[in-house]
This record gives sequence, C-alpha cells and structure tokens, in this order.
Amino acid sequence: MKKLILGIETSCDETALAVLKASGGLRAPRFNISKALVSSQIPIHRPFGGVVPMLAKREHLKNLPILFRKLGGEKIMRNVDMIAATVGPGLEPALWTGINFAKELGKKFKKPLVGVNHLEGHLYSFLLPKKSTPHSLLTTHYTKMFPAIALIVSGGHTILLRMKNLTTWKKLGETRDDAVGEAFDKVARILELPYPGGPEIEKLASRGNPTAINFPRPMAHDTSPAGEYDFSFSGLKTAVLYYLRDNPRTRRADIAACFEQAAVDVLLLKTVRAAKSASAHSIMLSGGVAANQHLRDALKKEVEKLGLRFLVADMRYNTDNAVMIAAAGYIDLLARRSQGAGGRKKKYPLTANGALNI
Ligand code: KG4
Ligand code: ZN
Repeated sequence: MKKLILGIETSCDETALAVLKASGGLRAPRFNISKALVSSQIPIHRPFGGVVPMLAKREHLKNLPILFRKLGGEKIMRNVDMIAATVGPGLEPALWTGINFAKELGKKFKKPLVGVNHLEGHLYSFLLPKKSTPHSLLTTHYTKMFPAIALIVSGGHTILLRMKNLTTWKKLGETRDDAVGEAFDKVARILELPYPGGPEIEKLASRGNPTAINFPRPMAHDTSPAGEYDFSFSGLKTAVLYYLRDNPRTRRADIAACFEQAAVDVLLLKTVRAAKSASAHSIMLSGGVAANQHLRDALKKEVEKLGLRFLVADMRYNTDNAVMIAAAGYIDLLARRSQGAGGRKKKYPLTANGALNI
C-alpha cells in the first residue's frame, strides 16, 4: 500500500502541517517526508508563563490557512490520499481548530479522514527517516525489535509501555501527578526562566554541577506492583521550591543541573527495570522531553550497556509536529485493515481522554 498523507497537529501551542509519503505494511512501514511545517506560538504565550488555550485557538485559526498555502495549497490536495489530524489528548479549543480544518478539506477535496491520538504520534516518531538512516529500520530489524519498552515523555504525559509489536501494547505505568515536561516548565518558572522551561533548564543545567544537591528521586524505590512503573514529579518540583527558599544564594545552574539529574535518574531507572523484566530487545524514547540531550545520552548509554537497541527520532521530531501525526495515521490505517471491518481494537488505550470523534 502507498499513501500520500496530509498530517495536521494543533493540540497545544504548535500549528503544524506535513505531507508524508507512506508505504509498506505493519512489518516494514516506510516513510518519506515531502514537506513539514511548524509554526510555533511560543512568543505569544511566553508573557503568560504557559499556554493560554483561547490564544492558542486564535493562533491556530490564523496559521492553518497560511501554512496550508505554504505547503502547496489546493494543488497538493489532488495527490493527497488521506488526511490525518490529532483528535486528542490536548487543549480542546486548540484541537477543534485542526479537526474542523481537516473536515473542511476532507469535504472539499473528497478525501478520507483519520483521527490520531497525539501520543501515538510521539510513540511512532522513531519510525521517521533519520539523517543517518533515511529509510525505515523495520525492514531489516523487525523481529529483533520486539518486545520493546516505550517511554513517552511530554508536557502532559509520562508513560511507560510494553510493546508486543508496533500496534499492541500494555501500559505499565504513568505519572500520578505532574508530567516530567510539566515539572521542567514549573521548575523553570521557580528559577524565573521563560516558557517553555525544558530547553531553558537544559541550557542552564549544562553549566551546573549535577551532584551539588541531592534532590529526591520520587517513587524510584517503590517496587510494589502498583507503583514500580509509576512516576511522580510534583514532589521533586516542590523540593526545588523549598530548597531555593531555604538556600536563596545557591547557584541557579546547580539547581537546574540537580533537578534535571533527579528527573533523568528516575526515568532511567524505571525504563531499565521494565526492559529487564520484559526481556525487551529495544527501548523507544519519544515526546518533547526526548529533545533533552542529557536524557537521550544517559538512556542510550544504559540501553547499550544492556545490549539493546535505542530508538529515538531526530531531534526536530521529538517536540510536536505533523509528520508524526501523518505516520501514526498510516499505522492506524494498516492496523484497521489487518483487523478487518470491526476496526482496530485497542486493549490498552494510551489515555482516557484521548478520544474526540472526527
Ligand atoms: O511533546 P511536546 O512538544 O508537547 C506535548 O505533547 O506536551 O512536549 C513539550 C514539553 C514541554 O514541557 C517542554 O518544556 C518539554 O517538552 N521540553 C523539554 C525540552 N524540550 C522540550 N524538556 C527538557 N529538555 C528539553 N530540551
Ligand atoms: Zn506532544
């Protein structure tokens, strides 16, 4: 099967459109990126210290037609076979702008629509072509890749999955409070750094000493069945807040470095624990926080020590984009076809609030 897919992403503060050439089956999907555009709203939200949903909606409404024209406009729609749009989870007013845009295009150009779970977009981002390996990895390594452990770390989620294959997984654990990206953003606010905090903390941390302060590693040693793969980052954020209150002269770079180290340590520990228990062949890392070089390097080192494969997208496809949404739309189409008219049955949905119907 070969499809040209238009991807649409508007779940948060990035308006993104992409055209992706997809081919192959579930054992060897191949992707080729024709065009990828992202319009970031960061400067709009920065004065508010976080994303303002109604402003995000306004910006998406303004940017979608602009990006569509840049992408090739109506001309490109002649060749597009399918439209894939994020349906959740995300900010509802923002999501609807993309969904309605997809619906209008679908109606006007008579193209089928597929709704994509944003987290599946992140999950599948490792399949996208890389500078170093421009074609799909699955072609040659499928049997070696599964079972796998997937760690999804974004601004809204921190999830560990055990993957039996590309489309069958079990959720092992998730955060019980703040997502790790959210903790980066909140600690950045405490340190009076601008939004989004993740990249700012990373920059500052690179000048700090990661052993200067021993922040807690929440739930790291919880090995009970209920908690061994769950996370909790809100206590870590509070520990940073109290430490700074009690030690106001501490170097900000040391605080950033020690916070980052504590967050990375917990993510690593639980992911490696899951990989050992599942006898995994590979570990997949995705989501906005996967853009953190310290996390990428540390996890890669651990994974290679275990003799497993480390799978992560090129840097620009870790934060929100529409290429991953188009890719997830294609995988969903393949999965639904392979499971017949009854549609794709997912035993373990990624989130409870992921479904808005297109
Ligand atoms: O996946 P994403 O772009 O949007 C969501 O689906 O939430 O993730 C955004 C999150 C934000 O919390 C941001 O601070 C964090 O990813 N992030 C980072 C880095 N780049 C983005 N966190 C740590 N280090 C980074 N370099
Ligand atoms: Zn995201």
